[in-house]
Parts: sequence; structure tokens; C-alpha cells
Amino acid sequence: MSAVQEGKRLGRQITKAVIPAAGLGTRFLPATKASPKEMLPLVDKPLIQYVVEEAVGAGIREIIIITGRGKRAIEDHFDISFELEETLRQNGKLELMESLRKISDMADFCYIRQRQALGLGHAILSAKNLIGDEPFAVLLGDDIIDHPTSALQQMIDLYQKNQAPLIGIQKVPKSEVRQYGVIDAEAAVDGLYKINDLVEKPSPKEAPSNLAVIGRYILTPEIFELLEKTKPGKNNEIQLTDALKELARLRNMYGYVIQGKRFDAGDKLGFLKATVEMGLKNPELGKEFRKFLKDLPL
Ligand code: UTP
Repeated sequence: MSAVQEGKRLGRQITKAVIPAAGLGTRFLPATKASPKEMLPLVDKPLIQYVVEEAVGAGIREIIIITGRGKRAIEDHFDISFELEETLRQNGKLELMESLRKISDMADFCYIRQRQALGLGHAILSAKNLIGDEPFAVLLGDDIIDHPTSALQQMIDLYQKNQAPLIGIQKVPKSEVRQYGVIDAEAAVDGLYKINDLVEKPSPKEAPSNLAVIGRYILTPEIFELLEKTKPGKNNEIQLTDALKELARLRNMYGYVIQGKRFDAGDKLGFLKATVEMGLKNPELGKEFRKFLKDLPL
């Protein structure tokens, strides 16, 4: 392929997003024994709805959700619920009915079943045929990022300029690096880093930086070939990090320090923090909730 053709291919609008949601959610057991982690409600919406709304707000039209056993509630959530809508209509609750209809009208939803939870890399690889030959976004439902310009919007804006794979990163305390993939990189401009290498869950000593990979990516289709070649790594899973390491060798790949407050909502404490913050921001509940918190004997 010529450089011009390659440029055209990568420069396409990003209209597809993959949301891997087939993980086992072991950090949130027993809540996630029979219901998906992605359906845990943050105030009044399931986690995955925040992420879908972020994607749609950034121009995504097709959402590909990777699901697994016990995840049917996700499909039902984004489907039309005729019975419920009809009952609400009959009871005159039209606003509520409209708000439900909006959830299923937001985008085109496709579901792919990952038959075994063989890792994040394996989950993304299963979207290969639906993505085809264009750049795409990946959003992890665990990461709820709060900022007036959404995390994905920030990344898409940057991708339009650089047309190179882009990984969302944030600075974390050195003591926490072992929970993340960490990049080895050189600072470029304004929160942008050129990635040389990545290390999955390093010890603070081994970590090449304190720049941790968080759950937003813009990837180019060559990631699929690399994932196909990736052997199972840590925990016998096909690790996205291993394929990204290869991608960084092949072409320029960047990390971008996402602006905004991030919550790891797949972790119990992170989820509680997100609930409190979102509760305080909620226009209907915020005032009373703030008063309740203030009155607590802390
Ligand atoms: P996590 O590492 O958070 O895994 O995966 P998990 O299983 O969901 O949660 P814990 O760690 O056991 O509590 C990161 C993302 O990748 C998806 C998860 O659903 C999550 O969004 N994933 C992971 C898959 O879709 N398939 C997999 O095989 C593994």
C-alpha cells in the first residue's frame, strides 16, 4: 500500500467503538456473581451507559460490545423495552418513557460473544470482522472519566491531527504502578508522549515511568494482525499490552494524558468514590446528598 493510501485509510473518521465487557469482574464479587459488573448503577445509570454516552457524544455511531456468559442484561439494557415503555405511556410518565427510548436509539449496537475470558487482547480481536479496515476506539467500562470534554473526545481530536495509534494515560503514584500497564516514553508536546515500550503491571522499581494506561484507546486495524500473533502471556491471557508493544516497534504510537478525574469503578473503593462524586453532581439529588454527607459523624 502506498503512503498516500495508508494515510487515507488511517485518516478516516472514527465511527466505531469496541467496549469489552466479557471480564469476570472478580474484584467485585459477590455482586458480580450473576450480574455483569458493567450493569452496576452509578446513581441512576449502569456503568456501561456512561461509557456508551461518552462514545456517542464523541461521534461514534456503531458500538460493538464484547459480552460473555451472564451478560445478557447488557443487551436488554440497550434494547427497546416495549412492555415497560407502554406501561409508562399509559401511566402518563412520558418523560421517563422518552428517556428509556433514547437509550436504545443512541447508536447501532452489535454484540460479540467471547466464549472464554481469554484476556482483553482476545476480546478486542473478536471484533476484527466488524471493524474491518478503519481506525476505531476502545473504551473500558471500568474507567469512568469526568471532564467537560469527554476523554474520548479529547483523544479523537488529537487523533485527527496525528493519525497514529493513541493510548489514554494518566499519572499515578509510583506505589500504584503495579495495577496498570505503564509506558516507557518521551514527552512530545502538551501531554503527548511518544511511546517506546510498555510494561504490564510492573513493580515500582521496574516501572519505566508513572504514566499508566487507562481505559481509552484509539487503535488502527493492524492491531488485529498483531493480536493474532500474540501468545498468551500473564495469567495465560492474550494481553493487549503485548500487541501494543509490537505496534510501538512498527510505527509511531502515542500516549496522551487525559484531562479529567478518573474513577476505577471496577474496584469497590473506586466505585464508592465515583458514586459519591456523581451523587454530589446530580441536579436532583446533589443538594440533599451533600447535606447528608456533611451531617455524617466522620
Ligand atoms: P479487567 O482486568 O478489569 O478484568 O479487564 P475483569 O475480569 O472485568 O475484572 P477483575 O479484574 O476480574 O475484577 C479489563 C476490561 O477488559 C474486559 C473486561 O470486561 C474489562 O472491561 N475483558 C477482560 C474482556 O472483555 N475479556 C476478557 O477476557 C478479559
